Amino acid sequence: MAEPRSHWGSRFGFIVAASGSAVGLGNIWKFPYITGTNGGGWFVLIYLACILLVGLPILAAEIMIGRSSQKQPVVAFEVLQGRRTGWSVLGWMGIVAAFVIASFYIVVAGWTMDYTVKHLVDFSKPVRAEALERSLTYQANASFETLRDDLIEERSADLAAPMVASIENRLPPSTWTRFNDFNRAVEFDGGGGRSGRPEPVEPGIRRANLLIDPALAAAVASVEALQPELDEARATALSEATAAVDAMDPDEVRLEATTLYRHRLIGDRMAGTFTELLEDGWTSTFWAVLFMILTMAIVASGVGRGIELACRILMPVLIMMMVGMVLYAATLPSFGEALAFVFKPDANALKPSGVLEALGHAFFSLGIGLGALITYGSYQKSKGTLFGESAWIAGLDTGIALLACMMMFPIIFAFGQDPGAGPGLVFISMPLAFAEIGSGGIVLGAVFFCLLSFAAITSAISLLEVCTSYLIDRWEWSRLRSTLVIGLMITLVGALVAFSSGDGFLFSSWSSGFGMNFFDTLDFIASNWLLPLGGLLIAVYAGWFLPKRLRDAEVASGSPLAYGLWLFLIRFVAPSLVLVVLAQKIGLFDANEALYTLWH
Ligand code: PHE
Repeated sequence: MAEPRSHWGSRFGFIVAASGSAVGLGNIWKFPYITGTNGGGWFVLIYLACILLVGLPILAAEIMIGRSSQKQPVVAFEVLQGRRTGWSVLGWMGIVAAFVIASFYIVVAGWTMDYTVKHLVDFSKPVRAEALERSLTYQANASFETLRDDLIEERSADLAAPMVASIENRLPPSTWTRFNDFNRAVEFDGGGGRSGRPEPVEPGIRRANLLIDPALAAAVASVEALQPELDEARATALSEATAAVDAMDPDEVRLEATTLYRHRLIGDRMAGTFTELLEDGWTSTFWAVLFMILTMAIVASGVGRGIELACRILMPVLIMMMVGMVLYAATLPSFGEALAFVFKPDANALKPSGVLEALGHAFFSLGIGLGALITYGSYQKSKGTLFGESAWIAGLDTGIALLACMMMFPIIFAFGQDPGAGPGLVFISMPLAFAEIGSGGIVLGAVFFCLLSFAAITSAISLLEVCTSYLIDRWEWSRLRSTLVIGLMITLVGALVAFSSGDGFLFSSWSSGFGMNFFDTLDFIASNWLLPLGGLLIAVYAGWFLPKRLRDAEVASGSPLAYGLWLFLIRFVAPSLVLVVLAQKIGLFDANEALYTLWH
């Protein structure tokens, strides 16, 4: 028998649950590293614009659809349209997206639990001891010349990087693609299958053969024309670094070179630890399963006593831990440098494709495009106050992403790490920094990873809820049974994901076929296609098809100005921006190239 629909305890309850869904690994793991790889500054500004112009309106639209239908996505569109229509496909797409995201999400979330425990047992103690010992030996045995040279080499690489990047930026991206293709082709020795392998061709001859193509030849020529300038930039960097190091006190040189040596050593060990976990399918699966069991327990306990209660406890704790970490970061001398990196626009560092990445990430981070907020909205009675709630959710999500940068980058900079390290930023660079801080750092590390797992679990419950609510609303299954069945299915796919990053065990031919591993493929399908497409359709539905009377009822007590603005954004701005992104993805045009031409 169908039970009466459950509801949140209060408006506050809805807001914490929905912001729990929004705030997740996307904010703390992914946002800082894509900010880092895109050079900060401009990327952050563009991200904020994407949230305001596209994310926020769609988020409000989802809540609107959920509240006025009081049903989960597949059923919601039937209720609103009064019959079955094609719109229900939108609900199905959402279920698929939630399922797919959940299955890799639990693996990463499991890693954060693993790292929490690692820090609790002070896993880096032997590494720290070894590093200390070896760096002292290095300092004692290496000649002053060696120390000086090592330091110069490092410093000049740091100095050269921005100069090299700005010279390289002068050529359009297509030239670089051609040039890289050319290099790959030169290296490829022409060998085919195991039998009938043709005689390898002499590299010089291969080169000449390839250069017959005029486009390729032009690209190679223009890259080679940059060479003198690149050499000069590197030489300048080298002489500047040499001058700076030679001006230093010899004791300072010794100290800095030793620190550098120790960072490298610990960094290698940390990278090794992470790779070990990546390749150890059993351990990854163990944590993913444990994480899923916790998530299922919360979802099975119901909307109010499960999801809302968990978020009411975890979200404030999460925010407190983050503020504590940011306060710690603010005591580091590198805090100013980090703030400048995050907030100061540097046009050189931004690649136009960063704009597309920003929009895609805005979807993922707000958790829109798959109906999670339709589902959560359906557990709230209409109150006529749509925009205030949406603004709170988007504001918390964005605020926490920025706080994450303010907590991580000062630590990253203080210990000489590269902000553009990519996905390893959280699992390699941060543990390195914690190890360098010493035993106090271990406490910080435990807090940091614990906070990450909290953020992950409040998001995972919403992903699971999107799927289970279908069985509950449509098939009238009990909550417990739905949770168990879906949870088990997600866990099975999650285990495949956990084993897919290891060597050869499963899917070893997958990456050769698709150019990425199983994990990345799932992430790619969901974040790049399903979410933007879902968001586009939701915007079109809410803007053009949702009966006006229902739309009006949801915003009754908001300001007419906000309503007008929202309607304009949801009807015109959001759909066109998402369409541009999708067109670029289909390959209708190349954003990097187009914007390059505009700028030059
Ligand atoms: N918003 C979550 C995050 O940032 C992920 C998520 C996506 C949650 C889609 C729900 C729906 O990690």
